[in-house]
Amino acid sequence: MGKAYDKFIERQQLLEKQYDDAYYEKQHNRGKLTARERIALLFDEGTFEELDAFAPPASVSFGKSTKAFGDGVITGYGKVNGRQVYAFAQDFSVLGGSLGAVHAAKIIKIQDMALKTGCPIIGLIDSGGARIQEGVQSLNGYAGIFRRNVLSSGVIPQISVIMGPAAGGAVYSPALTDFIFMSAGTSYMFVTGPDVVKQVLNESVSPEELGGASIHSTRSGVADFAFNDDENTILGVKMLLSFLPSNNIENPPFVASDDPITRIEPSLRDIVPDDPDKPYDVKEVIKLVVDHGRFFEVGENFAPNFVTGFARMGGQVVGILANQPRIMAGTLDISSSTKGARFINICDSFNIPLITFEDVPGFLPGTDQEHNAIIKHGAKLLYAYTYATVPKITVVLRKSYGGAYIVMNSKGIGGDFSFAWPTAEIAVMGPEGAIAVLYRKELAEAADPVALKKQLAQKYREDIANPYIAEEKGFIDEVIDPATTRLKVIRALQSLEKKSISIPKRKHGNIPL
Ligand code: HXC
Repeated sequence: MGKAYDKFIERQQLLEKQYDDAYYEKQHNRGKLTARERIALLFDEGTFEELDAFAPPASVSFGKSTKAFGDGVITGYGKVNGRQVYAFAQDFSVLGGSLGAVHAAKIIKIQDMALKTGCPIIGLIDSGGARIQEGVQSLNGYAGIFRRNVLSSGVIPQISVIMGPAAGGAVYSPALTDFIFMSAGTSYMFVTGPDVVKQVLNESVSPEELGGASIHSTRSGVADFAFNDDENTILGVKMLLSFLPSNNIENPPFVASDDPITRIEPSLRDIVPDDPDKPYDVKEVIKLVVDHGRFFEVGENFAPNFVTGFARMGGQVVGILANQPRIMAGTLDISSSTKGARFINICDSFNIPLITFEDVPGFLPGTDQEHNAIIKHGAKLLYAYTYATVPKITVVLRKSYGGAYIVMNSKGIGGDFSFAWPTAEIAVMGPEGAIAVLYRKELAEAADPVALKKQLAQKYREDIANPYIAEEKGFIDEVIDPATTRLKVIRALQSLEKKSISIPKRKHGNIPL
């Protein structure tokens, strides 16, 4: 080949030169891995194929430009744990990872490829947002990315991993994807940065306080996961991928399990305290029921009164939803309703059955919740459960009162199987509320109203707030021995393997947003 081959090698060497020691040092000094290192960690060794590595940046007439090959983003495909995945990694060392026209075109190319081939796409984000000197070309680039995010939504898994700044336009693509990871301490997300906040509001705030991983994984709920560094964040991404199918036509990966389906777990009989007002940790229930006790929690620190995450049961991936009695008595509020609804939508998009563990006294009362539209947000959870067509199984552990009974996947809204433990309390409202309404006069006239209230509450529990009326009426399929929960749920799950239901034809439903 001679000269032609020499030229080819010369170009390869030029590219390699771009990634010199200074390139690594600059990022490492910021406590971050480089885009190249991140890609190497994500993909199985030697499987990553880079595309458009030599794409030159668009020329600009204003100020700073770059000559870097690839325009500040590495794009391509390869295998992650043996499965085909597309990815892009923004390179902060090139104009702050900002998005110019070529940078955007490269991302768009792999978005199209991922959608066309039915493969997950992962974005490793480290970017100052729209490249200022490329003006409207940058904005149009974002528009193209956002459009593809929306077109791919519910078709292929889209995962965003924030590993540095995600400022301005850089936040909206992640917001349109299925999951957001953040590397704690080095990443932050905001629409407008601290400088603008200072100028407009005269408010001083650090990037971490404005949009760091702890804020977004606890208060705003924007991030589903926060890990302490780039390495662990990427390990988390790989773990998440192991629960997801490559697209909406496939089933999630089945992993044969040697954890017996018939495993009986006597300790479950003692988990719910005798005192109905005492808390317990619902995660203990989950871990005792799923394969090998492995539960991968999603959104662990946001709305912790509602637990969501993935596990396997009998080898099959399931999405778990559970009220957490340890926090706010497991009540449903705005944050937990939106968290649950979003998780249900993701599971339903990707053929992941839903298993619900219920112990909920009701919706959280109060002006704060009402004025901030708990009606609308609670309806999201109701809507999502009802709309989902994947297999849906509920186990009522303890409280199941009022609207919360209906919302949490009751059979009336389309739940396939409902089981209850003997400790279940299923009624219109809890004993205290019910007695106050039904026996107001008697209590007012009683010599010892406290004793009367206690006595009536006990009678209410025995006569009304128990699982047996619901079982007799068929709203609960079976009251089960808690020790057999794993067996009962897996058998139900297996019986639903070929579940097929049709919903009325329409363009799309109108979830209360
Ligand atoms: C061009 C940019 C850039 C940008 C950073 N750089 N952001 N270049 N366009 N948007 C360049 C810097 O000039 C600098 O170049 C290098 O990247 C590193 O930036 P530093 O500021 O030195 O780094 P750091 O102190 O770590 O701060 C990072 C940052 C900050 C927080 C991201 O750079 C910043 O605030 N950038 C602007 C963020 C922003 O407001 N973006 C919004 C754009 S508007 P040199 O040559 O000095 O190394 C937008 C609208 C789209 O995105 C809306 C769609 C919905």
